[in-house]
Amino acid sequence: MATKQGMELVDRDERGVDRAFRKDVLAGLSQPDKAIPARWLYDDAGSQLFEDITQVEEYYPTRAETDILGTRGDEFAAAVGKGRAVVEFGSGSSVKTPLLLRAIDPAAYVPLDIAGDFLRAAAEDLAQTFPDLPIWPVEADFTKTVHLPEAVESLPKLGFFPGSTIGNMVPRTAVDLLRSMRDTLSPEESEPAHGLQPPMLLIGMDLVKDVSVLEAAYDDAAGVTGEFNLNLARRINRELGGDIPVDDLRHEARWNDAFARIEMHLRTTRDIAFTVSGESFTMRKGESIHTENSHKFTRRSSYTLLQAGGWTPTCRWTDSKRRFSVILAEASVLRSAP
Ligand code: TRP
Repeated sequence: MATKQGMELVDRDERGVDRAFRKDVLAGLSQPDKAIPARWLYDDAGSQLFEDITQVEEYYPTRAETDILGTRGDEFAAAVGKGRAVVEFGSGSSVKTPLLLRAIDPAAYVPLDIAGDFLRAAAEDLAQTFPDLPIWPVEADFTKTVHLPEAVESLPKLGFFPGSTIGNMVPRTAVDLLRSMRDTLSPEESEPAHGLQPPMLLIGMDLVKDVSVLEAAYDDAAGVTGEFNLNLARRINRELGGDIPVDDLRHEARWNDAFARIEMHLRTTRDIAFTVSGESFTMRKGESIHTENSHKFTRRSSYTLLQAGGWTPTCRWTDSKRRFSVILAEASVLRSAP
């Protein structure tokens, strides 16, 4: 479930260059430890490659999470209850959504995404499958508090955030996001819905496991993830007038044990020099550009993160091979004493 860029929100200069892209790339390449924000991996080619990643043999998270969502429906229904409005954060083209909607019989579905065209197309598809379900797509950046449609104001909410996307954020950013989600799903003091059942969140979080399994998932033998990562360098060359020697970069996925995360890097195979938007850069052999993190969790680390973000875990499911977890949490009641 990739987050695409909203075309209409892009600020371009007189030559059609995306200003934010250029700013992030130039700043990221100027640092001693080079790093570029992962969102720039997802142009059209990158989004397609990401869809391909979810199909490769070594990439287990999508299959593992789909296994949970497809088999534990009765338990979700019992834990969540009927009649909630399901609010999906970064819905994209998710194929997981129907599994949840079928299981819990919600009163409404509110997909949130920054890619408006994509969002509306996906909502129309879902409407075919669930003709009786009110669907209210909202084009929004869900990292900030989102004002939900009035039609769902008086309904209790269930947030849905699959794909272990929370793991693509460093803990500090993940906590900020969890808190924004809590705000988005909580009724305002003044609303009639105040006093409703507290909001819930159903969230996918990938698990710490054998390093060999993790590294293979992010460096598949067919090279799809490698292409996805290298596409960023190609995109920089194409859109920012760069001449990065892409053949001298290698995709690398390596486990950082201290931070419990897979890191994706583009690592040089020799000393290189290149320009991007007229600025010159050099990289020594073996230096890298850091392009993505995918944090992995234990039961306790996932609970700690959720609690830090204002959510109390109430149920947890794993797939049959114990590779992935789906956790149900309830907005914590804020107390000043233990
Ligand atoms: N959140 C998923 C994961 O970390 C999907 C994902 C995001 C991903 N960025 C990625 C997968 C880069 C492969 C490579 O697994």
